[in-house]
Amino acid sequence: MGKAIELKCSLCGRSYSPDSNVMTCQDCGIDGTMHVLYDYDEVRKSLSMEGLAADPERSLWRYLPLLPVSDMTYVPELQVGWTPLYDSQVLASRYGVGRVMIKDDGRNPTASYKDRASAVAVAMAKELGRDVVACASTGNAASSLAGFAAVGGLRSVIFVPESAPEAKVTQLLVYGAQVYLVKGDYEQTVNLAIEAIDANGWYNRNCAINPYLVEGKKTCAIEIAEQLGWQVPDRIITSVGDGCIISSLYKGFWDLLQIGLIDHMPKITGVQAEGACPIHRAIESGADRVTFQPAETVADSISVGAPRNWVKALNAVRSSEGTTVTVSDKEILEAMTELARATGVFGEPAGVTAFAGFKRMAQDGLLGSCETVAIVVTGNGLKDIVSAKKSVGVPTVVEPSMESFSAAMALKNI
Ligand SMILES: Cc1ncc(COP(=O)(O)O)c(C=O)c1O
Ligand SMILES: [Zn+2]
Repeated sequence: MGKAIELKCSLCGRSYSPDSNVMTCQDCGIDGTMHVLYDYDEVRKSLSMEGLAADPERSLWRYLPLLPVSDMTYVPELQVGWTPLYDSQVLASRYGVGRVMIKDDGRNPTASYKDRASAVAVAMAKELGRDVVACASTGNAASSLAGFAAVGGLRSVIFVPESAPEAKVTQLLVYGAQVYLVKGDYEQTVNLAIEAIDANGWYNRNCAINPYLVEGKKTCAIEIAEQLGWQVPDRIITSVGDGCIISSLYKGFWDLLQIGLIDHMPKITGVQAEGACPIHRAIESGADRVTFQPAETVADSISVGAPRNWVKALNAVRSSEGTTVTVSDKEILEAMTELARATGVFGEPAGVTAFAGFKRMAQDGLLGSCETVAIVVTGNGLKDIVSAKKSVGVPTVVEPSMESFSAAMALKNI
């Protein structure tokens, strides 16, 4: 099934056939996440700049030759991908950076980047004849899977930490998922989900385990390249939790290099919250492995102390000569209002963390005045209004009369 020709362990390099149904490497265990490889000579024949320019499909499926799904038979009927890429001259001049592009992935159907992976997961599960899909998530992957499972006619079983924001949990219930709120942190949630999924034989949508999900996510990088006329940005910045998104950005550009649609790799740059930064610590110290640690941040989606896709994440940063930075919760909340007011893009805390990291780097003189930077906003602000409210004041309450309004307005000194 599918079009991948090889699965390759990101840790030891052992190769597997896609037909083997192996998810992580048998020698390396859960750390041995797999790269999905294609016959790039074949892909080159069916994906060209001209062909894509003429293709009216406005979704990630325009890149089908680079996706593991066989054909469109089982693809869920939900528009995913081809999200806007805004060129913010306001931010470019404010921070003295050549060009600042904002990729608004909160515009996906369930309002996060995770839809790119869920679309592929549901298509693959259906291709395999499976009827239950399951995952553990900080919230967005779960609500995304629930939405795609619903439209694809599959049942979804979801494990989220009890602390997941109400909007995300409500989204799950609205889509009809079977939801388990785990009294524990994300690491404990993942461990329970892995056991439950194994015990029940459900289709596993955990992004750091199922190798095909990074494939869906990588389409964001391909889109950015295409939206920029195949002139890739010098740097791409994303927030990092488990490390799947950052790995996927690297993989998207790497695939494009294999088929000659781009000529260099952007510097892949990851931003973590100060209270949850194990990947950053490993990069900073030059460590081979990530040391797990407790996590605490307002950005719930990246409140990850035990990142599952750390091998690929470290590789993405190091191989691309990128970097990582950390930001405080205060910087994240400030980034939320600043981004919304400068560009109209309202992101959830983890969604704007990349922008907070961009600001930090610009202020520290780490970004060039000729540099083109793409910042990925990974989730919509309406996902977590409790956090959003922490970054703003309160509205003025008035009686329904001009008198009351005028008195209130006078107090505001407008
Ligand atoms: C909005 C948002 N941003 C960033 C991330 C981090 O992605 P990853 O866990 O792949 O590093 C997540 C993951 O849940 C997310 O939901
Ligand atoms: Zn291995």
